[in-house]
Amino acid sequence: MVSSVLKQISFFKDLSNSDLKKLFSIAGLKQYAAGQMVFAKADLGNNFFIVKTGRIKIFTTVGGGKKKTFAYLKKGDFFGEMSLLGGKVRSASAQAAEDSEVLVISKKNFKRLIIENPDFSLNLLQTLVERLHKANKDMESMLFHNILGRLAEAILDLSKDKHTKPVKMAIDQNELAQYLGTTRVPVCRAINTLKRAGIIDYRRGELVILNQARLQSMAGSD
Ligand code: CMP
Repeated sequence: MVSSVLKQISFFKDLSNSDLKKLFSIAGLKQYAAGQMVFAKADLGNNFFIVKTGRIKIFTTVGGGKKKTFAYLKKGDFFGEMSLLGGKVRSASAQAAEDSEVLVISKKNFKRLIIENPDFSLNLLQTLVERLHKANKDMESMLFHNILGRLAEAILDLSKDKHTKPVKMAIDQNELAQYLGTTRVPVCRAINTLKRAGIIDYRRGELVILNQARLQSMAGSD
């Protein structure tokens, strides 16, 4: 059952059938209900995870409950590798943003996969480079963009796998605030500014992109 699951996951698309079989014998499957924690920041890291279905939120909490969402991971994305490769403890928390299923691989088997499967290791490295690239972009954006530019960037980022025309996504203002590492009030103001300019519509937790080109220009990505 797990091997047919693995074949559908892009992370494993380059692996041979025998490599997939090997993986199949070492991966377990775990289910998390929406809101359930997979692990918390600073826990000891023992497992590596790959999302099979649903969405996993990766976030950090600082001081009196301030939150910053680093990423929403979906089908085929992995997490939990950092503490296994060096940090020892989890660098961030992982929580199911909706009902989710994840493949679980132990630390020992994860290290064996890296050593024995060049394609697996290459995929891992490529994704880590993409994440570093995004983290640099986020830092640049936090330092040099105003809240409108950052909101525009966040909306484009969070909606990149939505293919309706116009693009629509369900997201609440708290989620957006946490993604930007700020509070709800400035995000609410920025949303209203974008609404007044006819760039987005936002009602009852549903955001619609009305003018993608202007959004891209505000995000500095056109
Ligand atoms: P680990 O430190 O073991 O536990 C938290 C995990 O969150 C971490 O491994 C990574 O897999 C993942 N993670 C941390 N930062 C980011 C980020 N900026 N983008 C995507 N995933 C991340």
